[in-house]
Amino acid sequence: MAEPASTVTLTIDGQSVTVPANTTILEAARSIGVDIPTICAHDATTPRGLCRLCVVDINRGRLLQPACIVPCQDGMVVETANERVRTSRRTILEMLHSAVDLSQAPAIQRYMAEYGADPQRFPEGRRREHPVLDDNAFYIRDYNKCVMCWRCMQVCAEDAQYIFALSIDARGFSSHITTAFDIPMPESTCVFCGQCVGVCPTNALKPKIEWGLEQGLSPDQIRETSRGMRRRQKPIRVE
Ligand code: SF4
Ligand code: SF4
Ligand code: FES
Repeated sequence: MAEPASTVTLTIDGQSVTVPANTTILEAARSIGVDIPTICAHDATTPRGLCRLCVVDINRGRLLQPACIVPCQDGMVVETANERVRTSRRTILEMLHSAVDLSQAPAIQRYMAEYGADPQRFPEGRRREHPVLDDNAFYIRDYNKCVMCWRCMQVCAEDAQYIFALSIDARGFSSHITTAFDIPMPESTCVFCGQCVGVCPTNALKPKIEWGLEQGLSPDQIRETSRGMRRRQKPIRVE
């Protein structure tokens, strides 16, 4: 039986590229300097194809496909920035903006400008609304800013920490990141490694000290509330 080819050759935006089999279109594009925007994909996490911002046109097929998870195949003709692709990305960004507080998501804001996304395109869009969770001494969780990229959950699980402190509750629009049974973070398996904070693209997860300073608290006041939290271990919901 013939061995499967170990490399494949395809065309991306008119450039021919040969890559190892199973390379994703995103990786192949980056290898020749073609930039494809991403939100959920991150070098530290397994791509899941969630946000769809990385969609590309393959062989002018019926559906656009996410470059972060689709593997390259011989003879593919990929267009990463034609009008159809740009319209799709623009609409995704406009829908995200209608539902989520993106005010502290600089990369997404840059994409909004690059794709000409109209922040007022869906003015009646339902907002994701959650109380800010301040239940531990290290970081706050503001899921009003969460785009459900799963990066935090993935680094807490098999992609890095193997702690599994985070999971998803509810379904559809109401789905959100939480701890098991929504228990306060100090009662969960969390070891406060900070990896989730490090990969969050929107500042939904933010170091307590940074958040406290933004609220106008002094370092002493922040330390004092954090000390209280270690003793109390009860969540404070900041309305
Ligand atoms: S800080 Fe806690 S929740 Fe975040 S990745 Fe580390 S163990 Fe998981
Ligand atoms: S909290 Fe941040 S990292 Fe986690 S899913 Fe939301 S946006 Fe992504
Ligand atoms: S970056 Fe590919 S689907 Fe999110």
